[in-house]
Formats: sequence, structure tokens, C-alpha cells
Amino acid sequence: MDNGTNANLGPALFLLAAAGYVALRSRPASTRKTTYNKNPLHCTLYSKSVTQHQLIKRFIRKTPLLHSKEVGNGNVFFKMESRQLTGSFKLRGALSKVLMLSEEEKKGLITTASTGNHGLACMRAFAQGKVGGVICLPGNVSQYKLNKLKALVGEGGVKVVGGDTAESEAAAREDAGKAGGCYISPYNDTTIAAGQGTIGLEVLEQLGGVVPDNVYIPVGGGGLITGIAGVIKALVPGCRVVGCSPANSPCLEMSVKAGRVLREGEFKNENTYSSGTAGGIDDDSFTVEACSFLVDDWIQLSEEEIKGGVRFMFGEFKEVVEGAAGCGVAGWKKDERGKGGERGVSVVVCCGGNVEAKEFAEMIG
Ligand SMILES: *[C@@H]1O[C@H](CO)[C@@H](O)[C@H](O)[C@H]1NC(C)=O
Ligand SMILES: *[C@@H]1O[C@H](CO)[C@@H](O)[C@H](O)[C@H]1NC(C)=O
Repeated sequence: MDNGTNANLGPALFLLAAAGYVALRSRPASTRKTTYNKNPLHCTLYSKSVTQHQLIKRFIRKTPLLHSKEVGNGNVFFKMESRQLTGSFKLRGALSKVLMLSEEEKKGLITTASTGNHGLACMRAFAQGKVGGVICLPGNVSQYKLNKLKALVGEGGVKVVGGDTAESEAAAREDAGKAGGCYISPYNDTTIAAGQGTIGLEVLEQLGGVVPDNVYIPVGGGGLITGIAGVIKALVPGCRVVGCSPANSPCLEMSVKAGRVLREGEFKNENTYSSGTAGGIDDDSFTVEACSFLVDDWIQLSEEEIKGGVRFMFGEFKEVVEGAAGCGVAGWKKDERGKGGERGVSVVVCCGGNVEAKEFAEMIG
């Protein structure tokens, strides 16, 4: 669908976008080489990130890129999406999608199914795009969460359907499909992933002339990593992209290694502090193919290591990040490659900061 129609346009769009991006940079175009691996999916992701950035940038925060000479020999930078509006990077993707909806789709039904960061982001994006979207929630959602969501979007913006998240997601898809509308996926959509990819454009701009050697990105469904890697690999092809997943729930990593989406029961799926990246992924998610050529290495993190990542951000910078962000930080800390002053410049994506006080205390305690 989204991919298919854009694949043919990819190379043309890519060139246009690349030209636009280079023109935007302060450095002369001749000193900055643009390159990509000629895969149409990569072209689509990168060119869309550049165009979507122009569309969404006035509605998002340009989040800080933290750096300290005392931390990691001064060779590491932390992109603080925990300070993004709605508390996570998800707003970029949601806005990217919602602001691109056609008039027909808007007349139909726009749905999504998430009680987490993606849900929060969609609600803000719906308001921004003046779209009456509906969030589908499973029957066992806590009364507290339900009331909070209803207060935010009104009674009509929330639908309780299905026994678990998979069922409410299926209902959300079906409702949107029947009404000629659109289901807003948390990750399985190149327009969403490209929205997350705008982080890569911001990071390169914020780094000035500094060229990153490694970038560490938490991995759930893969929208964040494919979006950012699509940009990084186009502009700094030598930069190593490292996917960081909780050892307790590494579905996408295992799926990429197996060459197909693994189903429930085929991968470890236990509780993790990195709840934002936990769980299974859609059948046929485009992120499996995209990761197979955009991600260089994978690192799995134990619960202790994830907590250590969260503790580190609080200790060094007094920043509050959620477990999924701790997972990325832990990946950077654990990475063995090039240790001993030879690690080069690293960037860690701190994807979100939505964590309850009790859980945060548990992690840093
Ligand atoms: C709802 O049920 C699913 C399994 O069907 C479970 O994973 C989830 O934790 C439950 N949520 C609540 C709030 O009880
Ligand atoms: C995920 O996206 C792919 C590519 O656009 C699509 O073919 C597939 O149906 C999507 N999967 C689901 C479960 O929606």
C-alpha cells in the first residue's frame, strides 16, 4: 500500500529531497556527499524524512542533544526525545501520518489502538490536524487510564473493543477499512517511520561538522530505527547503526535474523522495564526487510543493564528517561566494539520519558 505506490517514485523523490537537504545545510553542497544503497525502500524512507521534516517541524520540539566532556570521554551525544511533546518521539511519526491524510480518508474513520506513547502522540496529532480520530482499547484497560483518555479526547474518541490489545488493534483496522478511512499503525508504515527519521536530520544538524561513527537506537516494531537509519545511512553511510532490544522481548531482532516475522511463542516475550519496545510485531511488517539492510549490529540488554541505562542518565545529566531509552543507553555502554578510546563518536537516542514515579524509583534504586 504505502510502500508499493511510492517505490517507483522513490529514486526521483530521493534526488529531489537530497538536493533540498543539501541546500538547507550551511556547508557547501560539494563537501557533503549524499549516498544510498539504491534500495527503493531506502530511497522512500530517506526522501520522505526530508519532506516530512518540513511539514512537521513547526509542531514538534527540536529536542536537545546532550553532551558532556566528562561523560564517555566526550565522544557520546544523547538525543533527548524524552523531552519531546507528549513525552516521546512518537509525535513525529503520528504528525507525519495525520497531516498527510487525504480528504476522503478524513471523511472516513481514522483509528489507532494504543494506550502508550503512540496513543498519546496520535491524540495530539489528531487535534493538530483537526481530525476526529478514534482510539480502540481492550476491555481490560484500567478504569484510570480509560477516564484519563476520555477526559482528553471526549467520549466519542475512545472505543472499548476486544479482550486484548491484538483484538482491539484488529477491530481498529477493520473499522477504518470498512469506513474508507485509515488505521494509524505505530510503526508499520513508511510515512510514520520517515517521521521518526526526522530525528536523524536534527542530530546531524546539531552535530555540526562532527561525523558520528555509531548510533544506538532502541528497537520495538522498528519504526524508529528504520526511520533514523534511512537518514543516517544516506548521509553518513559509514556510520554503524546498532539496534538495542531487551533480551526479554527481542521480536524484531529475532525476526530479521530468521528472515520472517516470528509469531508469539517463537521468541522470548517476558516482562521488561523497556515496555515501550516489548511485544510481537505485525505479519509482513516492512521493518523486517528494512532492518535487514539498514541495521549493522544488534545488542540485547538484560533488565539489570536497562535499569543501569536509566540510572546513568539520571546520575550524569539528571534526566528522567523511560526503560526503552535506558535500553539504548545500555547498548552504548555494553558495546564492545572499538573500546579503549577507539570507539569514535557515538549518538544514543533516548526515545522517551513517560515513566511512572514508582517504576522510575525502582529502576534507579
Ligand atoms: C489485558 O489482557 C492482556 C492479555 O489478554 C494482558 O497482557 C494485559 O496485561 C491486560 N491488561 C490489564 C490492564 O489488565
Ligand atoms: C505492514 O505493511 C506492509 C507493507 O506496507 C503491508 O503489506 C502489510 O499488510 C502490513 N501489515 C499489517 C498487519 O498491516
